[in-house]
Amino acid sequence: MTSKFLSVALACAAMVSANVMAQDYPVANKVITFVLPYAAGGPTDKAARDLAQSMSKFMGGHSIVIDNSAGASGSIGANKVAKAPADGYTLLFTHIAQATLPTFFRNLPYNVERDFEYLGMVSENPMNLIGRPSLPANNMTELMGWIQANKGKINIANAGPGSASHLCGMLFQSTIKVDMTSVPYKGTAPAMTDLIGGQVDLMCDQTTTTIPQIEGKKVKSYAVTTPTRLTAAALKDSPTMQEAGLKDFSVTIWQGLYAPKGTPAPVLKKLNDALKAAVKDQDFIRKQEGGGATVITDARNDPAGHKNFVISEVAKWAPVIRAGGIYAD
Ligand code: MLT
Repeated sequence: MTSKFLSVALACAAMVSANVMAQDYPVANKVITFVLPYAAGGPTDKAARDLAQSMSKFMGGHSIVIDNSAGASGSIGANKVAKAPADGYTLLFTHIAQATLPTFFRNLPYNVERDFEYLGMVSENPMNLIGRPSLPANNMTELMGWIQANKGKINIANAGPGSASHLCGMLFQSTIKVDMTSVPYKGTAPAMTDLIGGQVDLMCDQTTTTIPQIEGKKVKSYAVTTPTRLTAAALKDSPTMQEAGLKDFSVTIWQGLYAPKGTPAPVLKKLNDALKAAVKDQDFIRKQEGGGATVITDARNDPAGHKNFVISEVAKWAPVIRAGGIYAD
């Protein structure tokens, strides 16, 4: 047998086995795992669990579990999926970090363009500047006065360089021209615990997890990051950053689902079909909208639209991050 014939035969065999695998996908006793690169209980974790529940409904009740592989700004979990078998059982659910980490890290161990199959975007999420309950400032005007009076002593929590909370907090500091001490956590859930306990002063987090804490009077809400006010009752007294005088300040982040590069096309189609059904599922929509998020049903819900959007976000944030001169490695 010539070596040329042998390599063609091996390629055909691989193709046949990928197609057989795709037909059976997902196999009854094999769970699908969403790797979630932040701590349990945070906004990304909440969105992933809601999506897993809804996608499972459209995959015959198949088990989808969450693996919180937190750390290094979300790059540990993303790298785990980039290197996982491309069989549709290990997926990455992450947010804007997919577009910011390639600039925040000079030596990221994976490539966001080459190492993933893009399954579709899920939601857009507004953010909210919140403070510890013991802060003397009760609104944005008072907060700005307190910040000026306490320069050099203020700390601000985040989920690590390149995370959504870090990006928002960094923009806040550069817009008001005040430097604060950044306190990184493995996710905003542990950061929220310390904010409630008064160990840190401020945080900018997604509204899906700030709303319950504001309702419970565990944290103070100062402003939202969207160009227009949000309708949630807990946020009715929170102005936009722009209303508070922070010209052009606008941050909305997004969440998406990814598979390792090389996952067979029929498996990707089954996953994308379930994702598309989930974003039209009333239960999923109600949970996201209740937290101020918007479910995505436009072209970004398709693999090509998702990938194009993420690439455009990498280009949009790279100069902003470089101007900040802060790196994660
Ligand atoms: C972030 O700030 O990037 C996220 O809130 C992280 C998380 O979901 O914990």
